[in-house]
Amino acid sequence: MNSRTHRPDGPRHVAIIMDGNGRWAKARGRPRLLGHRAGAKRVREIAQACPANGVEYLTIFAFSTENWKRTQEEVAGLMSLFRRYLESESKSLVERGARVRFIGDRLQLDPILRRNMDALEARTAHNDTLNLTVALNYGGRDEVTRATKRLARDVAAGRLDPDTIDHETLPRYLDTHVLPDPDLVIRTSGEARISNFLLWQSAYSEYEFVDTLWPDFTREHFEAVLARFGGRDRRYGGARA
Ligand code: IPE
Ligand code: IPE
Ligand code: MG
Repeated sequence: MNSRTHRPDGPRHVAIIMDGNGRWAKARGRPRLLGHRAGAKRVREIAQACPANGVEYLTIFAFSTENWKRTQEEVAGLMSLFRRYLESESKSLVERGARVRFIGDRLQLDPILRRNMDALEARTAHNDTLNLTVALNYGGRDEVTRATKRLARDVAAGRLDPDTIDHETLPRYLDTHVLPDPDLVIRTSGEARISNFLLWQSAYSEYEFVDTLWPDFTREHFEAVLARFGGRDRRYGGARA
Protein backbone atom coordinates (compact mmCIF):
# COMPACT_ATOMS: atom_id res chain seq x y z
CA MET A 1 0.00 0.00 0.00
CA ASN A 2 1.35 3.41 -0.87
CA SER A 3 0.13 6.80 -1.99
CA ARG A 4 -0.88 5.37 -5.38
CA THR A 5 -3.74 3.45 -3.82
CA HIS A 6 -5.13 6.29 -1.73
CA ARG A 7 -8.67 7.19 -2.83
CA PRO A 8 -9.29 10.89 -3.28
CA ASP A 9 -12.67 10.75 -1.48
CA GLY A 10 -11.59 8.41 1.30
CA PRO A 11 -9.60 9.11 4.48
CA ARG A 12 -5.85 8.68 4.19
CA HIS A 13 -5.32 8.66 7.95
CA VAL A 14 -7.85 7.06 10.29
CA ALA A 15 -7.44 7.25 14.06
CA ILE A 16 -9.49 5.05 16.40
CA ILE A 17 -10.36 5.39 20.07
CA MET A 18 -10.89 1.70 20.78
CA ASP A 19 -13.43 1.96 23.60
CA GLY A 20 -15.87 -0.45 25.20
CA ASN A 21 -13.76 -3.47 26.14
CA GLY A 22 -14.83 -3.28 29.79
CA ARG A 23 -18.54 -3.08 28.98
CA TRP A 24 -18.21 -5.93 26.49
CA ALA A 25 -16.79 -8.15 29.25
CA LYS A 26 -19.32 -6.94 31.83
CA ALA A 27 -22.22 -7.82 29.53
CA ARG A 28 -20.89 -11.38 29.57
CA GLY A 29 -20.25 -11.45 33.31
CA ARG A 30 -16.53 -11.80 32.63
CA PRO A 31 -13.48 -9.92 33.98
CA ARG A 32 -12.53 -6.68 32.18
CA LEU A 33 -9.26 -8.17 31.03
CA LEU A 34 -11.15 -10.65 28.90
CA GLY A 35 -12.68 -7.68 27.08
CA HIS A 36 -9.22 -6.25 26.50
CA ARG A 37 -8.08 -9.56 25.04
CA ALA A 38 -11.09 -9.69 22.72
CA GLY A 39 -10.38 -6.09 21.73
CA ALA A 40 -6.74 -6.82 20.92
CA LYS A 41 -7.89 -9.49 18.46
CA ARG A 42 -9.85 -6.90 16.49
CA VAL A 43 -6.78 -4.81 15.75
CA ARG A 44 -5.42 -7.23 13.18
CA GLU A 45 -8.72 -7.41 11.29
CA ILE A 46 -9.08 -3.62 11.11
CA ALA A 47 -5.42 -3.11 10.15
CA GLN A 48 -5.75 -5.68 7.38
CA ALA A 49 -8.79 -3.88 5.99
CA CYS A 50 -6.90 -0.58 5.61
CA PRO A 51 -4.82 -1.06 2.44
CA ALA A 52 -7.77 -2.35 0.41
CA ASN A 53 -9.75 0.72 1.46
CA GLY A 54 -7.06 3.24 0.61
CA VAL A 55 -6.18 3.98 4.26
CA GLU A 56 -2.42 4.54 4.49
CA TYR A 57 -2.22 5.50 8.17
CA LEU A 58 -4.02 3.84 11.07
CA THR A 59 -3.49 5.23 14.56
CA ILE A 60 -5.02 3.39 17.51
CA PHE A 61 -5.46 4.53 21.10
CA ALA A 62 -4.41 1.61 23.29
CA PHE A 63 -3.66 3.21 26.67
CA SER A 64 -4.01 6.80 27.83
CA THR A 65 -1.94 8.76 30.33
CA GLU A 66 -5.13 8.75 32.45
CA ASN A 67 -5.62 4.97 32.31
CA TRP A 68 -3.10 4.52 35.17
CA LYS A 69 -6.03 5.50 37.42
CA ARG A 70 -7.52 2.03 36.94
CA THR A 71 -6.95 -0.77 39.43
CA GLN A 72 -3.45 -2.13 39.71
CA GLU A 73 -4.81 -5.46 38.50
CA GLU A 74 -6.26 -4.00 35.29
CA VAL A 75 -3.17 -1.89 34.54
CA ALA A 76 -0.82 -4.84 35.10
CA GLY A 77 -3.07 -7.05 32.98
CA LEU A 78 -3.07 -4.51 30.16
CA MET A 79 0.70 -4.09 30.27
CA SER A 80 1.27 -7.82 30.10
CA LEU A 81 -1.29 -8.05 27.28
CA PHE A 82 0.63 -5.38 25.34
CA ARG A 83 3.88 -7.23 25.89
CA ARG A 84 2.50 -10.57 24.79
CA TYR A 85 0.67 -8.98 21.88
CA LEU A 86 3.83 -7.39 20.53
CA GLU A 87 5.64 -10.68 20.83
CA SER A 88 2.93 -12.71 19.11
CA GLU A 89 2.01 -10.16 16.43
CA SER A 90 5.40 -8.82 15.47
CA LYS A 91 6.20 -11.57 12.98
CA SER A 92 2.95 -11.09 11.12
CA LEU A 93 3.25 -7.28 11.23
CA VAL A 94 6.72 -7.52 9.71
CA GLU A 95 5.54 -9.95 7.04
CA ARG A 96 2.42 -8.01 6.16
CA GLY A 97 4.51 -4.92 5.55
CA ALA A 98 3.17 -2.70 8.32
CA ARG A 99 5.41 0.05 9.57
CA VAL A 100 4.79 0.25 13.29
CA ARG A 101 5.35 3.36 15.40
CA PHE A 102 4.47 4.23 18.97
CA ILE A 103 3.41 7.60 20.30
CA GLY A 104 3.12 8.58 23.95
CA ASP A 105 5.55 8.79 26.83
CA ARG A 106 7.36 5.50 26.76
CA LEU A 107 9.78 6.38 29.55
CA GLN A 108 7.15 5.38 32.12
CA LEU A 109 6.64 1.95 30.61
CA ASP A 110 8.20 -1.32 31.67
CA PRO A 111 11.72 -1.71 30.22
CA ILE A 112 10.93 -5.06 28.57
CA LEU A 113 7.85 -3.64 26.87
CA ARG A 114 9.89 -0.63 25.78
CA ARG A 115 12.55 -2.86 24.29
CA ASN A 116 9.89 -4.74 22.31
CA MET A 117 8.47 -1.44 21.08
CA ASP A 118 11.87 -0.14 19.97
CA ALA A 119 12.67 -3.45 18.27
CA LEU A 120 9.39 -3.54 16.37
CA GLU A 121 9.85 0.04 15.17
CA ALA A 122 13.32 -0.82 13.93
CA ARG A 123 12.28 -4.09 12.28
CA THR A 124 9.43 -2.47 10.38
CA ALA A 125 11.15 0.80 9.51
CA HIS A 126 11.35 -0.06 5.82
CA ASN A 127 7.77 -1.31 5.45
CA ASP A 128 5.13 0.75 3.70
CA THR A 129 1.96 -1.32 3.28
CA LEU A 130 0.36 0.45 6.24
CA ASN A 131 1.61 2.98 8.78
CA LEU A 132 0.29 1.59 12.04
CA THR A 133 0.77 3.90 15.00
CA VAL A 134 -0.05 2.72 18.50
CA ALA A 135 -0.77 5.35 21.14
CA LEU A 136 0.50 3.81 24.36
CA ASN A 137 0.70 5.90 27.53
CA TYR A 138 -0.45 8.69 25.25
CA GLY A 139 -2.29 11.87 26.22
CA GLY A 140 -2.71 14.91 23.98
CA ARG A 141 -2.01 17.34 26.83
CA ASP A 142 1.01 15.34 27.93
CA GLU A 143 2.31 15.28 24.36
CA VAL A 144 1.90 19.06 23.95
CA THR A 145 3.53 19.61 27.35
CA ARG A 146 6.54 17.44 26.45
CA ALA A 147 6.79 19.15 23.05
CA THR A 148 6.67 22.60 24.67
CA LYS A 149 9.47 21.64 27.01
CA ARG A 150 11.71 20.64 24.11
CA LEU A 151 10.76 23.75 22.17
CA ALA A 152 11.57 25.94 25.18
CA ARG A 153 14.94 24.22 25.53
CA ASP A 154 15.71 25.03 21.88
CA VAL A 155 14.80 28.67 22.46
CA ALA A 156 16.92 28.83 25.62
CA ALA A 157 19.86 27.27 23.78
CA GLY A 158 19.53 29.76 20.92
CA ARG A 159 18.56 27.09 18.38
CA LEU A 160 15.08 28.52 17.82
CA ASP A 161 14.15 32.18 17.38
CA PRO A 162 10.78 32.84 19.13
CA ASP A 163 9.85 35.31 16.39
CA THR A 164 9.91 32.51 13.81
CA ILE A 165 7.40 30.34 15.71
CA ASP A 166 4.22 29.76 13.72
CA HIS A 167 1.53 27.05 13.52
CA GLU A 168 3.97 24.67 11.85
CA THR A 169 6.57 24.87 14.62
CA LEU A 170 4.89 22.98 17.47
CA PRO A 171 3.86 19.97 15.32
CA ARG A 172 7.53 19.36 14.61
CA TYR A 173 8.01 18.68 18.33
CA LEU A 174 4.98 16.41 18.72
CA ASP A 175 5.29 12.61 18.84
CA THR A 176 3.35 12.56 15.56
CA HIS A 177 5.81 14.80 13.69
CA VAL A 178 6.20 12.33 10.82
CA LEU A 179 2.47 11.63 10.44
CA PRO A 180 -0.18 13.56 8.52
CA ASP A 181 -3.12 14.81 10.62
CA PRO A 182 -5.96 12.29 10.92
CA ASP A 183 -8.76 12.80 8.38
CA LEU A 184 -11.19 10.71 10.39
CA VAL A 185 -11.36 9.86 14.09
CA ILE A 186 -13.63 6.98 15.07
CA ARG A 187 -14.70 6.27 18.63
CA THR A 188 -16.53 3.07 19.43
CA SER A 189 -18.86 2.28 22.37
CA GLY A 190 -21.22 5.24 22.11
CA GLU A 191 -19.18 7.79 24.09
CA ALA A 192 -18.97 11.14 22.29
CA ARG A 193 -15.75 12.62 23.66
CA ILE A 194 -12.13 12.66 22.64
CA SER A 195 -10.58 11.76 26.02
CA ASN A 196 -7.30 13.56 25.38
CA PHE A 197 -6.58 11.89 22.01
CA LEU A 198 -4.63 13.78 19.29
CA LEU A 199 -5.76 17.21 20.53
CA TRP A 200 -3.64 19.34 18.22
CA GLN A 201 -3.75 16.98 15.25
CA SER A 202 -7.52 16.51 15.08
CA ALA A 203 -8.37 20.22 14.78
CA TYR A 204 -10.01 19.55 11.38
CA SER A 205 -10.66 15.83 11.59
CA GLU A 206 -14.08 14.41 10.90
CA TYR A 207 -15.52 12.47 13.85
CA GLU A 208 -17.59 9.31 13.87
CA PHE A 209 -19.04 8.04 17.12
CA VAL A 210 -20.40 4.53 16.74
CA ASP A 211 -22.36 2.56 19.34
CA THR A 212 -20.63 -0.76 18.69
CA LEU A 213 -18.25 -1.86 21.46
CA TRP A 214 -14.67 -2.25 20.25
CA PRO A 215 -14.50 -6.08 20.56
CA ASP A 216 -17.58 -6.24 18.27
CA PHE A 217 -16.24 -3.75 15.71
CA THR A 218 -15.71 -5.78 12.54
CA ARG A 219 -14.28 -5.01 9.15
CA GLU A 220 -17.87 -4.50 7.93
CA HIS A 221 -18.52 -1.84 10.61
CA PHE A 222 -15.23 -0.18 9.69
CA GLU A 223 -16.00 -0.11 5.98
CA ALA A 224 -19.46 1.32 6.64
CA VAL A 225 -17.85 4.21 8.55
CA LEU A 226 -15.31 4.76 5.77
CA ALA A 227 -18.09 4.85 3.19
CA ARG A 228 -19.89 7.62 5.13
CA PHE A 229 -16.72 9.72 5.10
CA GLY A 230 -16.95 10.11 1.32
CA GLY A 231 -20.07 12.22 1.65
CA ARG A 232 -18.55 14.78 3.98
CA ASP A 233 -17.83 18.36 2.92
CA ARG A 234 -14.57 19.40 4.59
CA ARG A 235 -14.37 23.17 4.47
CA TYR A 236 -11.49 24.03 6.83
CA GLY A 237 -13.16 27.33 7.65
CA GLY A 238 -13.88 28.22 4.03
CA ALA A 239 -17.28 28.79 2.45
CA ARG A 240 -19.45 25.94 1.19
CA ALA A 241 -18.49 25.01 -2.38
C1 IPE B 1 -10.92 0.71 26.10
O1 IPE B 1 -11.92 0.00 26.73
C2 IPE B 1 -9.55 0.16 26.38
C3 IPE B 1 -8.73 0.99 27.29
C4 IPE B 1 -9.06 2.18 27.73
C5 IPE B 1 -7.45 0.43 27.71
P1 IPE B 1 -12.38 0.36 28.21
O2 IPE B 1 -11.61 -0.46 29.18
O3 IPE B 1 -12.33 1.82 28.45
O4 IPE B 1 -13.89 -0.13 28.18
P2 IPE B 1 -15.12 0.54 28.91
O5 IPE B 1 -15.19 1.96 28.48
O6 IPE B 1 -14.90 0.41 30.38
O7 IPE B 1 -16.30 -0.26 28.43
C1 IPE C 1 -9.94 6.36 25.99
O1 IPE C 1 -10.88 5.55 26.61
C2 IPE C 1 -8.60 5.71 26.02
C3 IPE C 1 -8.46 4.50 25.20
C4 IPE C 1 -9.35 4.00 24.40
C5 IPE C 1 -7.18 3.86 25.31
P1 IPE C 1 -11.28 5.72 28.15
O2 IPE C 1 -12.28 4.68 28.44
O3 IPE C 1 -10.05 5.73 28.97
O4 IPE C 1 -11.90 7.17 28.20
P2 IPE C 1 -12.96 7.79 29.23
O5 IPE C 1 -12.43 7.53 30.60
O6 IPE C 1 -14.25 7.10 28.98
O7 IPE C 1 -13.02 9.24 28.87
MG1 MG D 1 -13.67 3.31 28.22
